[in-house]
Amino acid sequence: MQADKPRGAILAIESSCDESAAAVLDESGGLLAHELYSQVELHRTYGGVVPELASRDHVRRLLPLIRQALERAGTAPERLAGIAFTAGPGLIGALLTGAALARSLAYAWQVPAVGVHHLEGHLLAPLLEPNPPPFPHVALLVSGGHTQLIEVAGIGQYAILGDTRDDAAGEAFDKTAKLLGLPYPGGPELARLAQSGTAGVFRFPRPMLDRPGLELSFSGLKTAVLHSLRGRELTSQLRADVARGVEEAIVGTLAAKAVRALEATGLDTLVVSGGVSANQRLRAQLSDAVGRRGGRVYYPRIEFCTDNAAMIAVAGLARLRAGEHEGLAIQPRAQWPLETLSAVPLQPSAAIPRCISPP
Ligand code: KG4
Ligand code: ZN
Repeated sequence: MQADKPRGAILAIESSCDESAAAVLDESGGLLAHELYSQVELHRTYGGVVPELASRDHVRRLLPLIRQALERAGTAPERLAGIAFTAGPGLIGALLTGAALARSLAYAWQVPAVGVHHLEGHLLAPLLEPNPPPFPHVALLVSGGHTQLIEVAGIGQYAILGDTRDDAAGEAFDKTAKLLGLPYPGGPELARLAQSGTAGVFRFPRPMLDRPGLELSFSGLKTAVLHSLRGRELTSQLRADVARGVEEAIVGTLAAKAVRALEATGLDTLVVSGGVSANQRLRAQLSDAVGRRGGRVYYPRIEFCTDNAAMIAVAGLARLRAGEHEGLAIQPRAQWPLETLSAVPLQPSAAIPRCISPP
């Protein structure tokens, strides 16, 4: 394989869960294209992601998305400098579809392929913005599967400061939304419903806040919500008040722990990424709490909070430039600890091309 291809554009592929996506990121031109197909409608009937259906749909969607991304970017395959793909963690069948396709295309087009850690993609998504976060910083990674506070010294240098003991924040949003009769994925639906709820009617537990440390726990929220609904008529006001209480409990807990992580590390920059970072109440509360300490919060633009291929391109480009690439074996990883990644010796904020369109 040719690890020393000329500089140029890379193609990135994301298929770790229920979003199929492709993007083209150019060293000098920035993000030239990003295409996404969400399988939400496909899984909605079942109230959650059905892994086998997800894999089959990736098989159907990925190639057309790749073609579309290359076309929109005006990049011919022979001009590509490499291909990045999500190698894990995620649903193994879904990962396998993207990995097999990416590895095969890279072989056919004689370019290097690099497997990207999905969470590193989320962590580096804010680097696409015109004003990227400086390193080192603390990252609050809040997605459907993960809730972690991470000290980020540089690309590939991640120390986990705190993790959830049970449900992830996104999972807590989704599960309580389901109890309120909202469709999958419940996070954005619950946030919408919470807007018409009254603050303070329900005060749900904020576990782990009364204890020192940076561990989190959200599984008790489901039971608390069930108790609050028991024996009562499910009026629209009750549902909205419960939604508001849930959102405040999750957001309040995340904000308090994020501030605690800044205090513990002595850092004043917070990066928030992953699907739940699209939540407006979380953004407002974090900006306020961190701002009061004289710090600053950075987020990806909303479309790059949830799963996408642009973030995979950012991480992939950094790693390809550092000379990393895969062998010919196709090796997705359902489990893949973030701390095992290797450090990328680059000046990260100077090295990543920005989005060319404003947020
Ligand atoms: O990062 P992501 O797209 O997928 C994973 O890697 O898991 O995150 C999806 C999660 C879901 O749980 C979804 O409900 C949640 O992010 N989410 C939200 C919002 N938008 C997405 N949760 C709360 N408020 C939102 N606005
Ligand atoms: Zn994700």
